[in-house]
Amino acid sequence: MLTRTTTVGTGNPADVAAPSGTGRRATHRLSAPGTDDSVAVAIRDLNAYYGSFHAVGDVAFDVPKNEITALIGPSGCGKSTVLRCINRMNDLVPGARIEGTIQYRGQNLNARKVDAVEVRRRIGMVFQKPNPFPKSIYENVVWGAKINGIKGNYDELVERCLRQAALWDEVKDKLKESGLALSGGQQQRLCIARAIATNPDVILMDEPASALDPISTLKIEELMRELERQYTIVIVTHNMQQAARVSDQTVFFSLGEKRMGVLVEASPTRELFTNPRDQRTEDYITGRFG
Ligand SMILES: Nc1ncnc2c1ncn2[C@@H]1O[C@H](COP(=O)(O)OP(=O)(O)OP(=O)(O)O)[C@@H](O)[C@H]1O
Ligand SMILES: [Mg+2]
Repeated sequence: MLTRTTTVGTGNPADVAAPSGTGRRATHRLSAPGTDDSVAVAIRDLNAYYGSFHAVGDVAFDVPKNEITALIGPSGCGKSTVLRCINRMNDLVPGARIEGTIQYRGQNLNARKVDAVEVRRRIGMVFQKPNPFPKSIYENVVWGAKINGIKGNYDELVERCLRQAALWDEVKDKLKESGLALSGGQQQRLCIARAIATNPDVILMDEPASALDPISTLKIEELMRELERQYTIVIVTHNMQQAARVSDQTVFFSLGEKRMGVLVEASPTRELFTNPRDQRTEDYITGRFG
């Protein structure tokens, strides 16, 4: 594997060497974009702005294929912003602008010529609040396939996606009923089925379980573990136990100068939670901050 070690920082004094006194530096391994088949998305020099506000500064990390990457950090540090940049959803936010490269399948997704709709088909998204359309369960699932011009046997597609989303058994006898008539946890699994139906490579999830009860949360976590065999997943979560339980890699963001979000550490999850490289990570995961 072609990798290099890079110091991650914004150039701000606040973000250079960790003030840990341990001598540990906020470093992690980064691929040379486009050279490493095990990397689904390589993010480099990502800066995001809302108007004149610099929300996220110089973010760089790799999203490994068929793994779950968790983004954690205090409120406002830019987790959702970074997630939305990965499938060009941030384009839709008025006043938002991003710089940097997001390398995916040999292309910079942030390049102007790239078709954002196609990006969103390949890189799907599931939001915090389940948002099924006011349509039947069946129509919710086939919607993505239809608007992307995917033809074929929709009955099969619906069954496959609902099975993959661990919802089939609960809804197979009421596919024509409204998606809105399901419980919150079921609605979220329906949204996952809808995301899968466009045949994506990558699924982005922004706090997908934060509006759910503990049992539904566990179901979503189990489902993610199933899905990672076939998909690459990036999840934002405030729940550190969830990040520890479900993810393979964890990326910790913090607030730098002028409330700009900065990446502090991207590490294998076990390592980040047991032996963080940066004092700021340690303070956060031990509850001293945030
Ligand atoms: N549409 C917007 N317009 C202006 N500023 C925004 C917008 N969306 C986010 N921001 C700002 O960008 C920064 C990062 O926001 P973001 O939503 O990415 O944080 P987050 O880490 O996801 O927070 P939370 O954990 O609360 O969801 C914040 O300071 C926020 O106020
Ligand atoms: Mg958020």
